[in-house]
Amino acid sequence: MIPPQDVARQRATSGGYTGIVTFTNVDLAEFDPAEFGDTRPFDALVGRFVLQYLPDPAAALRRLAGFVRPGGIVVMHDMDASNPDVSFPRCQLWNDCYALLGALFRAHGIAPDFGRHLTRVFLDAGLPWPDVESGAMTGGKPGSTAFAWLGSAVQAVEPLLLQAGVALPEGIAIDGSLTATLERAVRESRSMILGNTHYGAWTHLDDGPHRSE
Ligand SMILES: C[S@@+](CC[C@H](N)C(=O)[O-])C[C@H]1O[C@@H](n2cnc3c(N)ncnc32)[C@H](O)[C@@H]1O
Repeated sequence: MIPPQDVARQRATSGGYTGIVTFTNVDLAEFDPAEFGDTRPFDALVGRFVLQYLPDPAAALRRLAGFVRPGGIVVMHDMDASNPDVSFPRCQLWNDCYALLGALFRAHGIAPDFGRHLTRVFLDAGLPWPDVESGAMTGGKPGSTAFAWLGSAVQAVEPLLLQAGVALPEGIAIDGSLTATLERAVRESRSMILGNTHYGAWTHLDDGPHRSE
């Protein structure tokens, strides 16, 4: 497998960004740009589905935002996978498979509804009150990408679910056929289905020499 940072570099090169964009693979709990010779403050700090996995999200955000210049922007995008009601009329298989994602978060000590807490996390990090927008994948029409999204997600995390002792839905093969099984079940129940709710929060750092604490 090509390392993800090499894929990113290739994409930057093919997009004409050689020498403009660099990629570094680090543990964010310890990241210090000075170690990479970058002492200038950043214009923006952007993270998607990363903050919720860090052991202390507010502390990490506070530290990372410290590398952003006054007036710069901090943008975080995280999810809520805690909704127990994600099909209308109810499609039990869709609900059961979706619930596995939340169960896995819980098993690893990660808040499954983290996205809903972004405002508090920004404030706990000493940042100005953020703007927030949210939205959920919604649909279920035959052929929808929602089926492959949940089918492949459950398939990918099956070993972690087993390791964590999370009970899997009975009588269902967790393999490449799951996407089609989900699609069939939703078609039979004629349901509208929901996926994770995504929350995007952003704020500009104060222009003064110090941010609000
Ligand atoms: C669900 S993936 C999201 C990937 C990508 N940002 C996206 O939106 O598709 C979670 C990512 O968080 C990263 N991650 C988790 N803990 C981390 C840490 N302490 N330092 C750096 N990255 C971390 C993982 O390596 C993984 O790439």
